[in-house]
Amino acid sequence: MAVKLPGLCLLLLVLLGLSWAKKHPCPIFAKSCEECIQSGPECGWCTKYTNTHCNTVKYLQRAGCRNHHIYNPQGSLQILQNYSSSDTADGSSLFLQPQQVSLHLRPAVSQSFPLTISTPTDQPITELTLETSEVPAGINITFSSVQRGSPLMMQVNVEAAGCPNTSDSVNQNQTGPWSIQITPRGFTVSLKLEITLQCRCSCTQHRQEKSPDCNGFGSLVCGRCYCEKNLAGSRCQLLSDEFLTRDERHCRRDETKPLCSGRGTCVEGTCQCNRRPNPAEGYSGAFCECSNFDCPYHNNSICGGNGRCECGKCICDPLWTGESCECSMDTTSCLAKNQQVCNGRGFCECGACRCTDPKFSGPTCEECPFCPGRCTALHNCVECWVSGLGPSRCASECGQYNVTMVATHDELYDPKKMPNLCKFWFKDLCSLFFAVPFPGQSTIPALLQCDQPDPASRFSFSFADV
Ligand SMILES: *[C@@H]1O[C@H](CO)[C@@H](O)[C@H](O)[C@H]1NC(C)=O
Ligand SMILES: *[C@@H]1O[C@H](CO)[C@@H](O)[C@H](O)[C@H]1NC(C)=O
Ligand SMILES: *[C@@H]1O[C@H](CO)[C@@H](O)[C@H](O)[C@H]1NC(C)=O
Ligand SMILES: *[C@@H]1O[C@H](CO)[C@@H](O)[C@H](O)[C@H]1NC(C)=O
Ligand SMILES: *[C@@H]1O[C@H](CO)[C@@H](O)[C@H](O)[C@H]1NC(C)=O
Ligand SMILES: *[C@@H]1O[C@H](CO)[C@@H](O)[C@H](O)[C@H]1NC(C)=O
Repeated sequence: MAVKLPGLCLLLLVLLGLSWAKKHPCPIFAKSCEECIQSGPECGWCTKYTNTHCNTVKYLQRAGCRNHHIYNPQGSLQILQNYSSSDTADGSSLFLQPQQVSLHLRPAVSQSFPLTISTPTDQPITELTLETSEVPAGINITFSSVQRGSPLMMQVNVEAAGCPNTSDSVNQNQTGPWSIQITPRGFTVSLKLEITLQCRCSCTQHRQEKSPDCNGFGSLVCGRCYCEKNLAGSRCQLLSDEFLTRDERHCRRDETKPLCSGRGTCVEGTCQCNRRPNPAEGYSGAFCECSNFDCPYHNNSICGGNGRCECGKCICDPLWTGESCECSMDTTSCLAKNQQVCNGRGFCECGACRCTDPKFSGPTCEECPFCPGRCTALHNCVECWVSGLGPSRCASECGQYNVTMVATHDELYDPKKMPNLCKFWFKDLCSLFFAVPFPGQSTIPALLQCDQPDPASRFSFSFADV
């Protein structure tokens, strides 16, 4: 269900969107009264201030626009001449009624009127064809028969498809008035139509500059403010989107970021990045968001001296890696004496060994302080020392180490730590115990026990290699 819900919501939104599109056929953001009324016969314009000027009449009324402020012409028809046959002297021809009609056409709103055709003698009229003089493109005149015989009655229907393209300046005279003759074929009498398109708004002629309704920053035309440059809003009370678009939005990485990342000036929608006192340093990027000096340092050098800085990131030289190029990929410093990387007991990381075998340590994982051989290696030193010879005599055996005699096993060895105890026989009578020093420790604690039943049984895990 949780998976289906979003789909359902989407469907609802789509349906709402469709019904919205159906209910609101008018361009509610129309820039002018003309644009509005030309978009469809149902679209009217409110000539007083409202939230939206262009909408259906119903909506404009609901929005508080009074009827006399709603401009929504539906065209008009005026009978200019409608003599009756008795008014004329000519009795030889057909007689048309009316004789002259003036039409104002709102595109897509048809106008119609009856046309009566009679003969002076009331003879039935058959096979009559009505001909029209040249009709401007987009205007459709049709006839339908209402009554045959005498008089004959036709319904004349006139409709305009749309308004001329205003940006087409070739023909200025595009909304009429046009004069059109309708003549029964073979006769000389005719009906004259005067047709004008209703494409303009009468209110457009009145323009109030610096109108108080526009806070003095715009012209009021048909109740709408046309704001001065850089201003917008129904009352010209805002900085215009266009202005923000041109000068601001293009200079910000996103709304929350400062103009030109705070490192430059926005000139007509383009960031001009500040200069740095050090000519080797510079900002770059469309928003000055990049620099060639804002990179991690290592060993007091930008990018460790082993790469270059691009847009806050180190681009490392070959064989270097890491955020600040601090890490060498060269493994020669990790090679042990046996030519294995880290003695085969670790891996080389940034030119230094990380030993994986816990017994091994040192720069190349070659040191193994507690390896069995260590007891033997230190035996001569300890034996030399225990024999009563001092540091100077045992220097060649002991090197860096001093031996300290202790009295108890507790002083000698901490069993919680790694096994590091060595045991040797000393002069066949005594047991000599000593602890292998930890790395960095320079003294070897030693214990000599004589004439005792094997005291080392406690230390069965000793490394004594006897
Ligand atoms: C013209 O006048 C006649 C009466 O003489 C009337 O019946 C007819 O409806 C009128 N035509 C129009 C289009 O108004
Ligand atoms: C003219 O109007 C008639 C009847 O309303 C319609 O059938 C026809 O398609 C229209 N012609 C044009 C070019 O609009
Ligand atoms: C109006 O005319 C211009 C140029 O003549 C053309 O580019 C545009 O498509 C036309 N618009 C319409 C709605 O016909
Ligand atoms: C448009 O043409 C008509 C004749 O078809 C003419 O009477 C009218 O004055 C013209 N209007 C303009 C603005 O040229
Ligand atoms: C630090 O830089 C100096 C010279 O700038 C160099 O001699 C030295 O080897 C570097 N140290 C490390 C750990 O990279
Ligand atoms: C060994 O002990 C002597 C005397 O206490 C001292 O001078 C010397 O520094 C010690 N050597 C080491 C390596 O600790």
